[in-house]
Amino acid sequence: MSAQDKSGVVHVYDGIEELDNHLPNWWLFILWLTVCFGFGYWYYFHTTGEGRGSLEVYRAEAAEAARLAEARKPKPDSDAGLMLLVQDKGLVDEGQLNFQQTCAACHGLKGEGIIGPNLTDNQWLHGGKPTDIHKVVNEGVLAKGMPSWEKVLGPQRVRAVVAYVLTLKNTNVPGKPPQGEPEK
Ligand code: HEC
Repeated sequence: MSAQDKSGVVHVYDGIEELDNHLPNWWLFILWLTVCFGFGYWYYFHTTGEGRGSLEVYRAEAAEAARLAEARKPKPDSDAGLMLLVQDKGLVDEGQLNFQQTCAACHGLKGEGIIGPNLTDNQWLHGGKPTDIHKVVNEGVLAKGMPSWEKVLGPQRVRAVVAYVLTLKNTNVPGKPPQGEPEK
């Protein structure tokens, strides 16, 4: 019996038939699909540079998340940013030291006021918002005898001293009587 007598039989040995049937179409379909996918994958990820690997995607997402977190942080010299500094005890202590050295001569050791107004009441000549206080300390009120501290202290120490002044609010240390408008 020749090998091709019976369809699909290519080899018979000791009555055992070896078949060479056509592969089922569904199987071939999957095979070619896989091959095509393989080419597509190679082309997309390794040739064009279009496709981004999972590590690259992860890095991009992490960078975006970091950017968003940074954007959500209040700006350093905004009301919210300055109020955040008040929670930093080290910075407030540094501000207190600066206050005692540079401000106390006019505002008193506890901010109770001498030549300068009492900073411990809730009345303000130039507003009691963190940004108002920051502005007065930075720019001064030169005509009224309050110096500008921007150049003397630099931005970081101005922030520290403002953070300290914010802790004095409403501590009502007896001293110079309140001046200006009550803070709303
Ligand atoms: C040479 C004296 C002098 C020194 C030193 C001084 N101040 Fe003043 N400060 C004044 C005077 C005077 C005023 C009131 C200005 C006015 O009448 O408009 C004032 C106003 C202020 C106000 C606004 C108060 C309000 O009612 O609105 C703040 C806040 C303030 N000073 C903080 C500081 C800080 C902080 C320092 C130290 C870094 C400092 N000052 C140093 C004299 C001084």
